[in-house]
Amino acid sequence: MNSKQSVMTLDEFTIQELRNFPGATGQLSGLLRGIGLAAKRVNVAVNKAGIADILGEAGRTNVQGESVKKLDEFANGQFIDALRTSIYCCGMASEENEDFIPFLDEHSMQSKYVVLIDPLDGSGNIDVNISIGTIFSVYRRITPEGTPCKLEDFLQPGSAQIAAGYIIYGSSTMLVYATRRSVQGFTLDPAIGEFCLSHPNLKCPEAGDIFSVNMGYYHLYEAPVRQVIDSFMAKTAQEKVYRHRAVGCMVAEIHRTLIQGGVFLYPAFGQYHHGRLRLCYECNPMSFLVEKAGGMSLSAPGQRLLDVQPAKLHQRIPIFIGSRTMMEGVHHLFSEAQ
Ligand code: AHG
Ligand code: MN
Ligand code: MN
Repeated sequence: MNSKQSVMTLDEFTIQELRNFPGATGQLSGLLRGIGLAAKRVNVAVNKAGIADILGEAGRTNVQGESVKKLDEFANGQFIDALRTSIYCCGMASEENEDFIPFLDEHSMQSKYVVLIDPLDGSGNIDVNISIGTIFSVYRRITPEGTPCKLEDFLQPGSAQIAAGYIIYGSSTMLVYATRRSVQGFTLDPAIGEFCLSHPNLKCPEAGDIFSVNMGYYHLYEAPVRQVIDSFMAKTAQEKVYRHRAVGCMVAEIHRTLIQGGVFLYPAFGQYHHGRLRLCYECNPMSFLVEKAGGMSLSAPGQRLLDVQPAKLHQRIPIFIGSRTMMEGVHHLFSEAQ
Protein backbone atom coordinates (compact mmCIF):
# COMPACT_ATOMS: atom_id res chain seq x y z
CA MET A 1 0.00 0.00 0.00
CA ASN A 2 1.19 3.46 -0.88
CA SER A 3 0.64 5.75 2.05
CA LYS A 4 1.77 9.33 2.35
CA GLN A 5 4.32 10.16 5.05
CA SER A 6 2.55 12.90 6.89
CA VAL A 7 -1.00 13.93 6.17
CA MET A 8 -2.58 16.88 7.87
CA THR A 9 -5.42 16.05 10.25
CA LEU A 10 -8.69 18.01 10.33
CA ASP A 11 -7.61 19.68 13.58
CA GLU A 12 -4.19 20.61 12.18
CA PHE A 13 -5.77 21.92 9.00
CA THR A 14 -8.31 24.13 10.77
CA ILE A 15 -5.56 25.50 13.03
CA GLN A 16 -3.39 26.27 9.99
CA GLU A 17 -6.33 28.07 8.42
CA LEU A 18 -6.44 30.28 11.52
CA ARG A 19 -2.81 31.28 10.91
CA ASN A 20 -3.71 32.32 7.36
CA PHE A 21 -6.54 34.54 8.62
CA PRO A 22 -5.27 36.54 11.57
CA GLY A 23 -8.70 38.08 12.31
CA ALA A 24 -10.31 34.65 12.75
CA THR A 25 -11.60 33.84 16.22
CA GLY A 26 -11.33 30.05 15.95
CA GLN A 27 -15.05 29.51 16.58
CA LEU A 28 -15.66 27.87 13.21
CA SER A 29 -12.59 25.64 13.65
CA GLY A 30 -13.92 24.65 17.07
CA LEU A 31 -17.31 23.84 15.59
CA LEU A 32 -15.77 21.67 12.88
CA ARG A 33 -13.75 19.79 15.49
CA GLY A 34 -16.94 19.15 17.47
CA ILE A 35 -18.72 17.88 14.37
CA GLY A 36 -15.70 15.68 13.54
CA LEU A 37 -15.77 14.17 17.03
CA ALA A 38 -19.48 13.34 16.86
CA ALA A 39 -18.94 11.88 13.38
CA LYS A 40 -16.26 9.54 14.73
CA ARG A 41 -18.62 8.34 17.45
CA VAL A 42 -21.39 7.75 14.90
CA ASN A 43 -18.91 6.01 12.62
CA VAL A 44 -18.02 3.51 15.36
CA ALA A 45 -21.71 2.73 15.85
CA VAL A 46 -22.30 2.41 12.08
CA ASN A 47 -19.35 0.05 11.71
CA LYS A 48 -20.64 -2.38 14.30
CA ALA A 49 -24.32 -1.80 13.60
CA GLY A 50 -24.97 -5.47 12.86
CA ILE A 51 -23.59 -6.69 16.17
CA ALA A 52 -24.78 -3.86 18.40
CA ASP A 53 -28.49 -3.44 19.07
CA ILE A 54 -28.69 -0.43 16.81
CA LEU A 55 -30.37 -1.64 13.61
CA GLY A 56 -34.07 -1.16 12.94
CA GLU A 57 -36.84 1.17 14.00
CA ALA A 58 -36.89 3.34 17.12
CA GLY A 59 -40.65 2.84 17.26
CA ARG A 60 -41.80 6.41 16.61
CA THR A 61 -42.26 8.85 13.75
CA ASN A 62 -40.58 12.25 13.49
CA VAL A 63 -42.11 15.69 12.94
CA GLN A 64 -42.26 14.92 9.21
CA GLY A 65 -44.23 11.71 9.79
CA GLU A 66 -41.31 9.46 8.79
CA SER A 67 -40.37 6.42 10.81
CA VAL A 68 -37.29 7.03 12.97
CA LYS A 69 -34.49 4.44 13.07
CA LYS A 70 -32.45 3.73 16.19
CA LEU A 71 -29.35 5.06 14.42
CA ASP A 72 -31.21 8.31 13.55
CA GLU A 73 -31.77 8.85 17.27
CA PHE A 74 -28.25 7.85 18.26
CA ALA A 75 -26.65 10.15 15.67
CA ASN A 76 -28.93 13.02 16.63
CA GLY A 77 -27.92 12.66 20.29
CA GLN A 78 -24.22 12.59 19.42
CA PHE A 79 -24.33 15.78 17.35
CA ILE A 80 -26.46 17.62 19.93
CA ASP A 81 -24.04 16.64 22.73
CA ALA A 82 -20.92 17.54 20.73
CA LEU A 83 -22.25 20.91 19.65
CA ARG A 84 -23.56 21.78 23.11
CA THR A 85 -20.21 20.85 24.66
CA SER A 86 -18.19 22.70 22.04
CA ILE A 87 -19.48 26.14 23.18
CA TYR A 88 -18.92 27.35 19.62
CA CYS A 89 -22.56 27.68 18.62
CA CYS A 90 -25.50 29.34 20.33
CA GLY A 91 -28.04 26.80 19.11
CA MET A 92 -28.84 24.15 16.60
CA ALA A 93 -31.75 22.78 14.59
CA SER A 94 -32.05 19.13 13.61
CA GLU A 95 -34.21 17.28 11.13
CA GLU A 96 -35.12 15.00 14.05
CA ASN A 97 -36.38 17.76 16.38
CA GLU A 98 -39.53 19.80 15.87
CA ASP A 99 -38.04 23.03 17.23
CA PHE A 100 -34.55 24.46 17.28
CA ILE A 101 -32.48 23.89 20.42
CA PRO A 102 -31.00 27.03 22.03
CA PHE A 103 -27.79 26.58 24.05
CA LEU A 104 -28.30 28.89 26.97
CA ASP A 105 -25.04 28.58 28.90
CA GLU A 106 -23.00 31.76 29.06
CA HIS A 107 -20.23 30.65 26.67
CA SER A 108 -22.51 29.20 23.99
CA MET A 109 -24.71 32.29 24.06
CA GLN A 110 -21.65 34.45 23.34
CA SER A 111 -20.90 32.54 20.16
CA LYS A 112 -21.81 33.87 16.75
CA TYR A 113 -22.91 30.70 14.94
CA VAL A 114 -25.95 28.44 14.64
CA VAL A 115 -25.82 24.93 13.13
CA LEU A 116 -28.47 22.99 11.20
CA ILE A 117 -28.09 19.26 10.81
CA ASP A 118 -29.48 16.13 9.21
CA PRO A 119 -27.79 13.73 11.65
CA LEU A 120 -28.41 10.60 9.60
CA ASP A 121 -29.16 10.89 5.90
CA GLY A 122 -30.27 7.92 3.84
CA SER A 123 -31.53 6.12 6.91
CA GLY A 124 -33.41 3.66 4.68
CA ASN A 125 -29.93 2.28 3.83
CA ILE A 126 -28.90 1.54 7.43
CA ASP A 127 -30.28 -1.96 7.69
CA VAL A 128 -28.83 -3.05 4.33
CA ASN A 129 -25.24 -1.84 4.77
CA ILE A 130 -25.30 0.80 2.03
CA SER A 131 -23.76 4.27 2.42
CA ILE A 132 -25.36 6.73 4.82
CA GLY A 133 -24.29 10.22 5.84
CA THR A 134 -24.63 13.35 7.96
CA ILE A 135 -25.20 16.85 6.55
CA PHE A 136 -24.46 20.12 8.37
CA SER A 137 -24.79 23.82 7.75
CA VAL A 138 -23.38 26.83 9.64
CA TYR A 139 -24.80 30.37 9.67
CA ARG A 140 -23.76 33.52 11.46
CA ARG A 141 -26.56 34.46 13.84
CA ILE A 142 -28.68 37.54 13.16
CA THR A 143 -29.61 38.16 16.80
CA PRO A 144 -27.00 39.84 19.05
CA GLU A 145 -24.27 37.74 20.64
CA GLY A 146 -24.90 37.14 24.33
CA THR A 147 -28.68 36.69 23.88
CA PRO A 148 -30.61 33.44 23.30
CA CYS A 149 -30.80 32.53 19.59
CA LYS A 150 -34.16 32.84 17.82
CA LEU A 151 -35.92 31.18 14.89
CA GLU A 152 -34.81 33.95 12.52
CA ASP A 153 -31.17 32.88 13.04
CA PHE A 154 -32.02 29.55 11.43
CA LEU A 155 -34.30 30.78 8.64
CA GLN A 156 -31.70 32.43 6.43
CA PRO A 157 -31.28 31.80 2.69
CA GLY A 158 -28.58 29.25 1.85
CA SER A 159 -26.46 31.97 0.23
CA ALA A 160 -25.79 33.31 3.76
CA GLN A 161 -24.08 30.09 4.88
CA ILE A 162 -20.61 30.45 6.39
CA ALA A 163 -19.77 26.78 5.98
CA ALA A 164 -21.50 23.51 5.10
CA GLY A 165 -20.50 19.93 4.70
CA TYR A 166 -21.23 16.26 5.06
CA ILE A 167 -19.84 13.06 6.46
CA ILE A 168 -20.20 9.93 4.37
CA TYR A 169 -20.09 6.58 6.14
CA GLY A 170 -19.22 4.53 3.09
CA SER A 171 -16.48 2.11 2.07
CA SER A 172 -14.34 4.67 3.84
CA THR A 173 -15.59 7.45 6.10
CA MET A 174 -15.03 10.97 4.86
CA LEU A 175 -15.77 14.48 6.08
CA VAL A 176 -16.07 17.08 3.32
CA TYR A 177 -16.73 20.72 4.09
CA ALA A 178 -16.91 24.00 2.23
CA THR A 179 -16.25 27.51 3.43
CA ARG A 180 -16.68 30.61 1.31
CA ARG A 181 -13.13 30.01 0.03
CA SER A 182 -12.80 26.30 -0.79
CA VAL A 183 -13.98 22.71 -0.42
CA GLN A 184 -11.76 20.25 1.46
CA GLY A 185 -12.14 16.49 1.87
CA PHE A 186 -10.77 14.41 4.77
CA THR A 187 -10.71 10.63 5.08
CA LEU A 188 -10.93 8.94 8.48
CA ASP A 189 -7.75 7.00 9.17
CA PRO A 190 -8.99 4.24 11.50
CA ALA A 191 -5.44 3.58 12.74
CA ILE A 192 -5.18 6.97 14.43
CA GLY A 193 -8.88 7.84 14.61
CA GLU A 194 -8.39 11.14 12.81
CA PHE A 195 -9.83 12.72 9.67
CA CYS A 196 -6.84 13.31 7.37
CA LEU A 197 -6.72 15.70 4.42
CA SER A 198 -7.08 13.45 1.36
CA HIS A 199 -8.97 15.61 -1.16
CA PRO A 200 -7.63 19.18 -0.94
CA ASN A 201 -9.43 21.91 -2.92
CA LEU A 202 -12.15 19.68 -4.33
CA LYS A 203 -13.65 20.77 -7.64
CA CYS A 204 -16.80 19.27 -9.14
CA PRO A 205 -16.00 18.07 -12.70
CA GLU A 206 -17.55 20.53 -15.17
CA ALA A 207 -19.02 17.71 -17.27
CA GLY A 208 -20.29 14.29 -16.30
CA ASP A 209 -22.09 11.23 -17.61
CA ILE A 210 -24.17 10.15 -14.61
CA PHE A 211 -27.75 11.11 -13.80
CA SER A 212 -29.35 10.19 -10.52
CA VAL A 213 -33.08 10.35 -9.81
CA ASN A 214 -35.72 8.00 -8.43
CA MET A 215 -37.06 6.58 -11.71
CA GLY A 216 -39.91 4.84 -9.90
CA TYR A 217 -41.80 8.14 -9.92
CA TYR A 218 -41.02 8.98 -13.57
CA HIS A 219 -44.66 9.13 -14.68
CA LEU A 220 -45.57 11.32 -11.70
CA TYR A 221 -42.99 14.02 -12.49
CA GLU A 222 -44.09 17.11 -14.42
CA ALA A 223 -43.47 17.25 -18.19
CA PRO A 224 -40.32 19.46 -18.08
CA VAL A 225 -38.71 17.10 -15.55
CA ARG A 226 -39.57 14.09 -17.72
CA GLN A 227 -38.00 15.90 -20.68
CA VAL A 228 -34.80 16.45 -18.69
CA ILE A 229 -34.69 12.77 -17.76
CA ASP A 230 -35.47 11.74 -21.35
CA SER A 231 -32.54 13.84 -22.56
CA PHE A 232 -30.21 11.58 -20.57
CA MET A 233 -31.68 8.32 -21.90
CA ALA A 234 -30.12 6.96 -25.07
CA LYS A 235 -32.57 6.35 -27.90
CA THR A 236 -30.04 4.97 -30.38
CA ALA A 237 -26.79 3.06 -29.93
CA GLN A 238 -24.89 5.99 -31.45
CA GLU A 239 -25.96 8.55 -28.85
CA LYS A 240 -23.89 9.61 -25.84
CA VAL A 241 -24.62 7.15 -23.07
CA TYR A 242 -25.37 8.52 -19.64
CA ARG A 243 -25.25 6.14 -16.71
CA HIS A 244 -28.10 6.03 -14.21
CA ARG A 245 -27.26 5.64 -10.51
CA ALA A 246 -29.51 5.95 -7.45
CA VAL A 247 -28.13 5.06 -4.02
CA GLY A 248 -31.08 6.39 -1.98
CA CYS A 249 -28.80 8.60 0.11
CA MET A 250 -28.32 12.22 -0.92
CA VAL A 251 -24.90 12.37 0.72
CA ALA A 252 -23.68 9.46 -1.41
CA GLU A 253 -25.22 10.93 -4.58
CA ILE A 254 -23.56 14.30 -3.95
CA HIS A 255 -20.23 12.75 -3.01
CA ARG A 256 -20.18 10.75 -6.25
CA THR A 257 -21.16 13.89 -8.18
CA LEU A 258 -18.29 15.85 -6.62
CA ILE A 259 -15.74 13.18 -7.49
CA GLN A 260 -17.02 11.91 -10.85
CA GLY A 261 -19.41 14.62 -12.06
CA GLY A 262 -23.07 14.19 -12.97
CA VAL A 263 -26.43 15.45 -11.78
CA PHE A 264 -28.75 14.50 -8.94
CA LEU A 265 -32.44 15.36 -9.19
CA TYR A 266 -35.16 15.14 -6.57
CA PRO A 267 -38.20 16.76 -8.23
CA ALA A 268 -41.67 17.36 -6.78
CA PHE A 269 -44.39 14.79 -7.45
CA GLY A 270 -47.69 13.44 -6.07
CA GLN A 271 -47.60 13.27 -2.28
CA TYR A 272 -44.33 15.28 -2.26
CA HIS A 273 -45.75 18.21 -4.18
CA HIS A 274 -43.14 20.52 -2.59
CA GLY A 275 -40.34 18.00 -3.15
CA ARG A 276 -39.14 15.53 -0.55
CA LEU A 277 -35.73 16.77 0.52
CA ARG A 278 -35.44 19.40 3.19
CA LEU A 279 -34.35 22.93 2.30
CA CYS A 280 -32.53 23.78 5.54
CA TYR A 281 -31.01 20.42 6.47
CA GLU A 282 -30.18 18.88 3.09
CA CYS A 283 -30.57 21.10 0.02
CA ASN A 284 -29.00 24.35 1.27
CA PRO A 285 -25.81 22.78 2.63
CA MET A 286 -25.32 20.57 -0.42
CA SER A 287 -26.03 23.45 -2.82
CA PHE A 288 -23.53 25.69 -1.02
CA LEU A 289 -20.89 22.97 -1.18
CA VAL A 290 -21.50 22.06 -4.82
CA GLU A 291 -21.51 25.73 -5.89
CA LYS A 292 -18.24 26.33 -4.03
CA ALA A 293 -16.82 23.34 -5.93
CA GLY A 294 -17.89 24.93 -9.25
CA GLY A 295 -21.25 23.20 -9.79
CA MET A 296 -24.80 24.53 -9.91
CA SER A 297 -28.07 23.98 -8.00
CA LEU A 298 -31.64 24.95 -8.93
CA SER A 299 -34.95 24.45 -7.14
CA ALA A 300 -37.10 25.34 -10.18
CA PRO A 301 -36.54 26.68 -13.69
CA GLY A 302 -34.33 29.76 -13.36
CA GLN A 303 -34.41 29.63 -9.53
CA ARG A 304 -31.06 29.33 -7.74
CA LEU A 305 -31.79 27.18 -4.71
CA LEU A 306 -29.48 29.17 -2.42
CA ASP A 307 -31.57 32.31 -2.97
CA VAL A 308 -34.77 30.79 -1.55
CA GLN A 309 -35.90 32.40 1.71
CA PRO A 310 -36.97 29.56 4.06
CA ALA A 311 -40.39 30.07 5.66
CA LYS A 312 -40.09 27.21 8.17
CA LEU A 313 -37.47 24.88 9.55
CA HIS A 314 -38.70 21.63 8.05
CA GLN A 315 -39.64 23.03 4.63
CA ARG A 316 -39.20 20.73 1.64
CA ILE A 317 -38.04 21.78 -1.82
CA PRO A 318 -37.31 20.21 -5.23
CA ILE A 319 -33.61 20.10 -6.18
CA PHE A 320 -31.64 19.79 -9.42
CA ILE A 321 -27.91 19.84 -8.67
CA GLY A 322 -24.57 18.88 -10.16
CA SER A 323 -21.89 19.50 -12.79
CA ARG A 324 -22.04 22.87 -14.48
CA THR A 325 -22.41 21.82 -18.12
CA MET A 326 -25.00 19.15 -17.37
CA MET A 327 -26.93 21.62 -15.22
CA GLU A 328 -26.78 24.22 -17.98
CA GLY A 329 -28.46 21.58 -20.17
CA VAL A 330 -31.15 21.09 -17.49
CA HIS A 331 -31.63 24.86 -17.23
CA HIS A 332 -31.90 25.14 -21.03
CA LEU A 333 -34.54 22.39 -21.24
CA PHE A 334 -36.51 23.97 -18.40
CA SER A 335 -36.51 27.37 -20.10
CA GLU A 336 -37.66 25.85 -23.39
CA ALA A 337 -40.54 24.13 -21.59
CA GLN A 338 -41.78 27.37 -19.98
P1 AHG B 1 -33.39 10.94 5.46
O1 AHG B 1 -32.83 9.57 5.72
O2 AHG B 1 -32.61 12.01 6.18
O3 AHG B 1 -34.87 11.04 5.69
O4 AHG B 1 -33.13 11.33 3.92
C1 AHG B 1 -33.33 10.38 2.91
C2 AHG B 1 -33.52 11.11 1.62
C3 AHG B 1 -32.27 11.28 0.77
O5 AHG B 1 -31.06 11.02 1.33
C4 AHG B 1 -32.50 10.38 -0.41
O6 AHG B 1 -31.95 10.93 -1.55
C5 AHG B 1 -33.99 10.27 -0.46
O7 AHG B 1 -34.45 10.40 0.85
C6 AHG B 1 -34.44 8.97 -1.05
O8 AHG B 1 -35.80 9.06 -1.25
P2 AHG B 1 -36.56 8.07 -2.25
O9 AHG B 1 -36.49 6.73 -1.63
O10 AHG B 1 -37.93 8.67 -2.34
O11 AHG B 1 -35.82 8.18 -3.58
MN1 MN C 1 -31.70 13.21 4.80
MN1 MN D 1 -32.13 12.15 8.30
